[in-house]
Amino acid sequence: MMRKAFIFDLDGVIVDTAKYHFLAWKSLANSLGIHFTTEQNEQLKGVSRIQSLKKILEWGNKTISEKEFTQLMAVKNEEYLAYISKMGVNEILQDVPRVLDYLISEKQAVGLGSASKNARIILKRVSLYDRFDTIVDGTNVSKAKPDPEVFLLAAKDLGVSTKNSIVFEDSVAGIEAANTAGMISIGIGDKKILHKADYIFTDFTEIKEEFINQLIKND
Ligand code: BG6
Ligand code: MG
Repeated sequence: MMRKAFIFDLDGVIVDTAKYHFLAWKSLANSLGIHFTTEQNEQLKGVSRIQSLKKILEWGNKTISEKEFTQLMAVKNEEYLAYISKMGVNEILQDVPRVLDYLISEKQAVGLGSASKNARIILKRVSLYDRFDTIVDGTNVSKAKPDPEVFLLAAKDLGVSTKNSIVFEDSVAGIEAANTAGMISIGIGDKKILHKADYIFTDFTEIKEEFINQLIKND
């Protein structure tokens, strides 16, 4: 049987860092006098740091110098890193280790495909770094989701074709990236938001071994 590639997004899929991104962006937006809602935050999920700040400035109708732009990205990341530095294994989302361990025991290829430049730090903090056969993150790609580059690169590293690759994603941009890549997309989160995914689950507790076995077997 052909080995499949299971590629995981990080933020909001493996760990609940989406809330920290939200808090850090909100305080930055508010410091610029820009209102920032959870609906807007939804549009930033899966989106790179640069693109996120561009959108926030657009929403606030603000233009700033390139220098200020770079500074603001650093300010956001510093606040975000302060949250990250306190993270531990308790912040791994429920049943993620179970699914990872099952895939590894079934000899499947396991990869990470994240937009974040902080992905490696976070995986180390929650002691999951060694579970991945490849890690592709924001430091390895030039095009942000919904561009499929991050997932294509992960599949290539794993030596698995795109049609034999399965992506777990919590963001609209990420589902779109997986679909464009010709991969099977599995949404983790809200059915209404992630309706373009091939399969949708609220969280990993709903992902049973029978379902994974089917994905492994399917041609
Ligand atoms: C994604 C998050 O995983 O990474 C986004 O969903 C975030 O919210 C993006 O902006 C980039 O992350 P970082 O850690 O490089 O700022
Ligand atoms: Mg995510």
